[in-house]
Amino acid sequence: MNTANFIDRRARLAQALRAAGGGLAVIPTAPERPRNSDADHPYRHDSHFHYLTGFDEPASWLLLSDSGEATLLCRAKDPDREIWDGLRLGPADAPKTLGVSAAFDVTTLDAVMAERLANQPAVWFPFGLHSGPEIRLETRLEGWLAGLRARARSGVQGPAMQRDLTPLLAEMRLVKDADELATMRLAASISAGAHARAMRFCGAQFRAAPQGFVREYEIEAELLHEFRRHGAQSPAYTSIVAAGANACVLHYVAGAAPLRAGELCLIDAGCEVDGYASDITRTFPANGRFTAPQRELYDIVLAAQQAAADATFPGARQRDAHHAAVRVLAQGMLDSGLLNRATVGSVDDVIESTAYRQFYMHGTGHWLGRDVHDVGEYLSLGEAPVEQKDFMGRTVVMPPSRLLEPGMVVTLEPGLYVRPAAGVPERFWNIGIRIEDDAVVTDTGCELISRGVPVQADEIEALMRDTAPRKSSTRKAGLRETA
Ligand code: GLY
Ligand code: MN
Ligand code: MN
Repeated sequence: MNTANFIDRRARLAQALRAAGGGLAVIPTAPERPRNSDADHPYRHDSHFHYLTGFDEPASWLLLSDSGEATLLCRAKDPDREIWDGLRLGPADAPKTLGVSAAFDVTTLDAVMAERLANQPAVWFPFGLHSGPEIRLETRLEGWLAGLRARARSGVQGPAMQRDLTPLLAEMRLVKDADELATMRLAASISAGAHARAMRFCGAQFRAAPQGFVREYEIEAELLHEFRRHGAQSPAYTSIVAAGANACVLHYVAGAAPLRAGELCLIDAGCEVDGYASDITRTFPANGRFTAPQRELYDIVLAAQQAAADATFPGARQRDAHHAAVRVLAQGMLDSGLLNRATVGSVDDVIESTAYRQFYMHGTGHWLGRDVHDVGEYLSLGEAPVEQKDFMGRTVVMPPSRLLEPGMVVTLEPGLYVRPAAGVPERFWNIGIRIEDDAVVTDTGCELISRGVPVQADEIEALMRDTAPRKSSTRKAGLRETA
């Protein structure tokens, strides 16, 4: 862990607090979540808390004063519990390990808050962050404020304002520093390797048994294997592995459906490394050869993604990529006959009427970072509202979309989803295609950090034909060595 980086982030947040009128920031980590009986879900820290501390033990709190004093509350050492749950850092070692000014046993939280909140102009915390009575910060805060009111006659004032910390933190997290980008590159490269592995796996399975099938969960297992063997802690979100028509269900998850020769497989999966997500989608032919209709639509989606990438550079607006992709998709719908010119008119008409939404009904990207759909304002709130199209194609009045800056990370993920319907050429029925890459905004444009897996149709087919033996014990350059 690069402690200096976390110290620097806390210093910058303290500076932002001072600039906004001062006060005390209170940032709890995420609660543990029971799964059933006495088993919990795998623990995942809170993204804000981890961004500021690098500490991933549950039951921890960070208090940050506007002078930059950082106080950690964490679980005390407990030899009995550590036998079951693993070692704890403990308050005594926290200042040296995490660079905080002070640390206390979390069971003293109420007493520490009574002292730290006294005479503060404001208390800052991320509003509405975690649900559940055991963590609900708003409820705890009510108790602390009531305690301070009771001391008013001794000259103790409670904070006069409660303020949402999220915008300050989101603004910081939106632009990634060099350490963050290095971790995101690693996550993207591991995920790309997992997609490539899934393609090779399907290629090999259908070579061995051309008339057979592969189940979605078998492909998911290949992804998970590749994530973990390279040290990713977990998937960053539930993996989508969709065989054939299942690709037209946007939030499908890997199930047990058979994938057969002649069908496409859509995989939307990415791993999380040290708290940072990757988010990649590839669509490939089960047996390694696109049919003509599949290839026709695939190339339209790929061209739309290229248009989105070309529209992603510093000074462009985040929404520009979507508009660029929609135009290419709409043109492709007309050229392929998915939409009938005689009925829907020109490409401008298709965009104006939102007729394209029959086959493309989602946005083209989102911020990516610690969260798959990362924090960060999408609108340029300092600018006056203007009439514009939202991602659904509706005319709305709101501030323009945000200007991109170097260090921001976005996904670019156009798609086409063709459900059987009257007037839609049957050769396209049940084809679902999405192509998604992770783009870092650079000084001059953007860099797609997830291209370690092929995206051109010919290159995908070549990879799936590739029978060269793979050295499973050798890690690829750039991937991390696990302990
Ligand atoms: N995998 C989530 C998304 O693409 O937004
Ligand atoms: Mn995405
Ligand atoms: Mn995705």
